[in-house]
Amino acid sequence: MSAAVPPAAEGASGLPGGLSPQEADALVALAERAARAAGELVRAGRAEHGAVTATKSSRTDVVTAMDTAAEQLIRDLLRAERPQDAVLGEEGGTTGGTSGLTWVLDPIDGTVNYVYGIPAYAVSVAVVAGEPAPPHWQPVAGCVHNPETGETWTAVRGAGARLDGEPVVAAAGPPLAEALVGTGFGYTAQRRQEQAGVVAHLLPRVRDVRRIGSAALDLCAVASGRLDAFYERGLNPWDAAAGWLVAAEAGVALVGLDGAGASQEMLVAAAPRLAEELAAELFRAGALPPV
Ligand code: IPD
Repeated sequence: MSAAVPPAAEGASGLPGGLSPQEADALVALAERAARAAGELVRAGRAEHGAVTATKSSRTDVVTAMDTAAEQLIRDLLRAERPQDAVLGEEGGTTGGTSGLTWVLDPIDGTVNYVYGIPAYAVSVAVVAGEPAPPHWQPVAGCVHNPETGETWTAVRGAGARLDGEPVVAAAGPPLAEALVGTGFGYTAQRRQEQAGVVAHLLPRVRDVRRIGSAALDLCAVASGRLDAFYERGLNPWDAAAGWLVAAEAGVALVGLDGAGASQEMLVAAAPRLAEELAAELFRAGALPPV
């Protein structure tokens, strides 16, 4: 999964790889332009081309012609403007680069919602320094765009998160017993069975549980106070990259279980105290069965 990119040291700006704040601003502007262009394509093309054309890890893990077309559109835009950067996309895999930056893309996060016409899907575009996967990646800039509502979250490392241009600051968060908790499920039956056991443990201990169907939007929802917390086991880098930066820049804590950092294995996102409480409860529930 990792592209061969050198590790990025932090420069005086606090940005990795000696990037200036102006360069980071240009990167987020490009991420937003790419996400909006892809969003327009997928929204307009849903009626004609929004049907399932292929499956991936299981028969429920679907791809439409628009996933492929939207990823190609973003890749073409990035190749024209940033040919030196690597790209990691959900549908097209990795294309190498020389700059130490990797664009991490999900052309439609929430493809099942997209197929069913549920307006909770997003285009997620982020650029990360160093390894293009947690826990060692350093997201620099990102955009999560919901083509149906037009809502657009952006974030730049060290410079905060925004929703439609307005700063987003995460709330303090309630205790776990009063928390509205979002989660998501993997695509294999075995993983889902394990995840169902964890949800069954959690449900009587929280206000309620939501499964919205787009991890990118879930992370932005925590940043914007629409969910108190979110957790998921087994997210791919493209599901998480841009939403991760939006949440972190809004002041949301991103952690793993049992003192570990957030990773592909387990990501818990919430205000710091709630994140700790939720991580402890998930650990008790066996959310990370021994491998
Ligand atoms: C999925 C969504 C979903 C999450 C899955 C992801 P996709 O992404 O983010 O909410 O639970 O783990 O794979 O397949 O729609 O791009």
